This record gives sequence, structure tokens and C-alpha cells, in this order.
Amino acid sequence: MAAQSIPIPPTNSGKAPRWTQPVSFYGQSVFSKYYAQSICVFLLLVPFLISPTAAQGQGAIGGQNCVTNYDAAANVDYFPSKITVDDAALFKVRYANNYKVVTNTYKGNKDYVLYQCGTTPPATSEFANGTIFVSVPVKAVASLTTTSVAYIEMLGRRSALKVVDTEGLVSSPCVQLGLEKGEIVGLEDKNQTLRADQFKGADLVFGAAENGTETKSVSTSEVSDPGPLNRAEWLEFYSTFFNLEESAQKLTASINNNYNCFKDRANAKPTKPVVAWSSYVAPSIYNNNTATWMFSSAPYKQILTTDAGATLFNGTTKETFSNSAEFLADLKKVDVIIDETFTGSDMTSFLTSYQLTAANTADYKFLQNKAVFRQDGLVNPNDGRDWFGGAVAMADATLQDVIRATHPEVLPKDVKYNWLRNIAKENEPKQLLNSANCTTTDSSTPIPDRAITCSTMKVDDGKGSAANKAIAGSALTAIVGLLAAALVF
Ligand SMILES: *[C@@H]1O[C@H](CO)[C@@H](O)[C@H](O)[C@H]1NC(C)=O
Ligand SMILES: *[C@@H]1O[C@H](CO)[C@@H](O)[C@H](O)[C@H]1NC(C)=O
Ligand SMILES: *[C@@H]1O[C@H](CO)[C@@H](O)[C@H](O)[C@H]1NC(C)=O
Ligand SMILES: *[C@@H]1O[C@H](CO)[C@@H](O)[C@H](O)[C@H]1NC(C)=O
Ligand SMILES: *[C@@H]1O[C@H](CO)[C@@H](O)[C@H](O)[C@H]1NC(C)=O
Ligand SMILES: *[C@@H]1O[C@H](CO)[C@@H](O)[C@H](O)[C@H]1NC(C)=O
Repeated sequence: MAAQSIPIPPTNSGKAPRWTQPVSFYGQSVFSKYYAQSICVFLLLVPFLISPTAAQGQGAIGGQNCVTNYDAAANVDYFPSKITVDDAALFKVRYANNYKVVTNTYKGNKDYVLYQCGTTPPATSEFANGTIFVSVPVKAVASLTTTSVAYIEMLGRRSALKVVDTEGLVSSPCVQLGLEKGEIVGLEDKNQTLRADQFKGADLVFGAAENGTETKSVSTSEVSDPGPLNRAEWLEFYSTFFNLEESAQKLTASINNNYNCFKDRANAKPTKPVVAWSSYVAPSIYNNNTATWMFSSAPYKQILTTDAGATLFNGTTKETFSNSAEFLADLKKVDVIIDETFTGSDMTSFLTSYQLTAANTADYKFLQNKAVFRQDGLVNPNDGRDWFGGAVAMADATLQDVIRATHPEVLPKDVKYNWLRNIAKENEPKQLLNSANCTTTDSSTPIPDRAITCSTMKVDDGKGSAANKAIAGSALTAIVGLLAAALVF
């Protein structure tokens, strides 16, 4: 159960997929919390069995293998690859010879002691009550959030993913396929006995503790870490549980370099368009039955905006409006809108919800500019948005999308959108991700970052687009190659 008081989404009649519609009356922030936190929704699902995977193989140094000849006195460093936390603000890691202490500093400095499989864990008396001890690498995990799923897949550990909650909203094609085949199961919500059974097979559960998971639940806080690069670095947090520090460090270094290159290119432009991340929330019991409009200034949106060479607009006087005229007066100052409204998906519904139907187009720069973007550019068949999955981890690709809204001239002319689609210009369609889009059955293949390589991209030179496409393709290949190399043990 989520600790915060988040409204419980309505239930349907109990058939999977549990939702066919997004929960339209919540604000974006509520909905992203919904994705990121575990929430009890009460529906019924598939029976489930995990066969706990025994650690295979032997090896003195650990890595992916259990240690078979542990001798504490020998002073062996079982974790030669260590992460250093450079950007993330909400976790830290300390290494000892045969264990590491990972701390979530956002959730009350909660410690997780990860000891190499086959070695003797340190004494519990050395740690605070409630410290979680986990033998690593873990082989079977449950994920209560769709965001965690993206991190696990980027590390190439879909093979370890056995249970997911809110599975109807998972955007990953291969996890959708795994759910169809029964290799991964959706977490039971109604039958507490079955739910507890599902947890029994997992070495650990990413998400808040509940009955039966108190000793193996790991709170993750990537969506609370303020900046895009902070959030990307949570790849390293996840990697510690799989002993994948080396590949995670390479991956985040590559994301950071690419991100900073995009940031430099966009900020070399003298103009700073004004961007609003805004939304309409229909009247409901959650907003006192009053229609509201709002500007969001969540830190990661602020940073993405400035790093995209733009200025964040969050309201001259306030962020939340119940008076549409006041909101519209502010909107006149905005060049680019990132519309976070859950209802509707096209320009007609946008104009209606913002009460712009009768507006003089000339009064609104974003209408003149044809610059209205939505975050549902990559969705599953239930409108489960990858914006809350891949976009959280792939900071460089997310910035690329924002730059496409603020300074498209910095990018190759035909660069494809990922999450942010423009509904004002060409009504760019939602790109559907379903199980048929899973192109590899190898559950150890990391899913690639969606960014193009900034340093080698060819910005439109008037000579057409084929070259740019080739570069985008090779960037993905390069990143997959990098990870593949790092994953060879
Ligand atoms: C930790 O747990 C033990 C045993 O349950 C208890 O005696 C002790 O007071 C607890 N310590 C703290 C700091 O809560
Ligand atoms: C709940 O799940 C358990 C374990 O799978 C099963 O034995 C039991 O019949 C289920 N209860 C209901 C009411 O379906
Ligand atoms: C947790 O377990 C206890 C005892 O088994 C039970 O009384 C309680 O209702 C459970 N809570 C939830 C949320 O299932
Ligand atoms: C909700 O609306 C009622 C009636 O207009 C008002 O008295 C009340 O203060 C409002 N509550 C909030 C939290 O805005
Ligand atoms: C806009 O965001 C800044 C930074 O978070 C904040 O200090 C300011 O109060 C916000 N403006 C409004 C009108 O809320
Ligand atoms: C998913 O696969 C279909 C073909 O099965 C393809 O047309 C579509 O572009 C793919 N979607 C994405 C987002 O790659």
C-alpha cells in the first residue's frame, strides 16, 4: 500500500487488463505517483509459480556466481567493480569485502545489505533494526512499479523479473510477451493468499513493504530524485542487486555524455522559448468538483526545460487555477506546451479542455508555432505510457525529445519522437508497443536507450535524411554492443 494518500483508481469488473482507459481525472503528478508507488488495486489475476533459480556455476571472486570456498580471513574483495554515485541525490553505496550497503536516503536512510552469495553476511547487530539482508546476485524479483521494470530491462535482467504489479500498464513489449506466455505474472490483488505465494518465490521485491515482504522489500526512489541525470543514475542502484555495476556505470556514463552534448547544442542557441508543462483536470471528487488547470514545475521538468535551451513557465502568480480566464491570460506568454492532461489525445480535445475552442489562434504563440506536445508518444494497448518507464531512465533520449519541442533545428531534420508527440503540427500518432514488438526472446538482452548519438548526429544540411537515419541506427547498435560487452562475465 502506498504511504501517501493517493486516490485509489476505480476498479473494473475484474478482468485483465485491469484498465482500458487511463484514469482521466487525476493530475499528472498523482498519476505518476501511481506508477511509481505501489497502490492496491483490487482485481483478480493469474495463478503463479516461481521456480527459484539456483545459482549456477562456481567461482572464487563472485560476480554472477556463488562463492564456494568463502574464507573471511583471506580478505578477498568480491566486488572489484564498484559504482560511484555522481548525480543521484537519494541513494548511496558503501563497499566492504563481501557485502555492500546500499542506502535509500529518501526513505528514512533505509539500508540494504547485499552480501555475495555463498559468503557469510555481516552481523545484523551492526545495522539498524529493519535492515534488509539480500544474497546477491538476485535471480528472481518482483516489481511493484512499471518504472522499475524499465531499469531492470536496461540492465539486461528481464530474466530475473517474475512478478509485476499494474501489469496492464507495462509498456515493455518483451514483458508484455512474458506476461502472455506466463513467464512473468501480474501481481494478484484480491486473493491475499495467492498474493503472498507470488511473493514467496521472489528473492526481493522492488517497492514498498507489505505483509510477507518485510524482509525483502526494497524501496526505490528514482522518480523523486530531482534531475534527469539523477534519475538515470538509479540504473546503478538497481545494478548493485545483480552485481552489474560495471555495465551500469558504462551505461550511465554514456547517457551523461550524450545528455550533456544535447544540452550544449541546445544552449548554444540564443533564443529561449518559453515552455509550460500544463494540464487540465476535470471536476471530480479529487478536486472539489471544480475544473482546474495547472502548470507543473517539478524539478526534473524545470531541468529538462533549461537543458533544452528554453525557459520554464509555471504561472505568473500561481500554479493551479480554477478560473479559466486567468489561466488563459498566462498561456499567452507560452511558446511551447507540453500537455499533461490525461483525457483526450488530439488537438480537438486539447482545445476543448483548455477552453481554447473559440480563441483567436493569433493570441496564442504555441498555436501559431504549432507546438503542443503530449507524453503519450509510446504507449501500450491500454494507454500505459512509457513516459513513466523508459523515459525516466533514458535521460538523454528524454532531453532529445524536449529539444525536438524547443530547438528542433539542433537535431537531424527527420529525428523520430519517442514519448513527446506533437498534436498541433501533424497530429503525430501514438506509437503502439505490444508483445509483437518484442524482437528478442533473449531475456538477457538489454533494451537499448532510445537516444540518437548527439556527438555524431548530422544536423540538417539540406541533403536529405538517409544519413541521419543511419546514424540514429548505429547509435542504438553501439549502445547495445557496449552493454553486451559489459555483460560477458
Ligand atoms: C531493535 O529490535 C530489538 C528486538 O526486537 C529491540 O529490543 C530493540 O529495542 C530495537 N532497537 C531499536 C533501536 O528499535
Ligand atoms: C486464493 O488462492 C489460494 C492459493 O492459490 C487458493 O487456494 C484459494 O482457493 C484462493 N481463494 C479464492 C477465494 O479464490
Ligand atoms: C496482514 O496480515 C495480518 C495477519 O496475517 C492480517 O491480519 C492483515 O489483515 C494483513 N494485512 C493486509 C493488508 O493484508
Ligand atoms: C470546496 O468547495 C466548497 C464549496 O464551494 C468550499 O466551501 C470548500 O472550501 C472547498 N474546499 C476546498 C478544499 O477547496
Ligand atoms: C515556479 O517555479 C519556481 C521554482 O520551483 C518556484 O520558486 C516559483 O514559486 C514557481 N512559480 C509559481 C508562480 O508558482
Ligand atoms: C511495433 O511493431 C509494429 C509492427 O508489428 C510496427 O509497425 C511499429 O512501428 C512498432 N512500434 C514501435 C514503437 O516500434
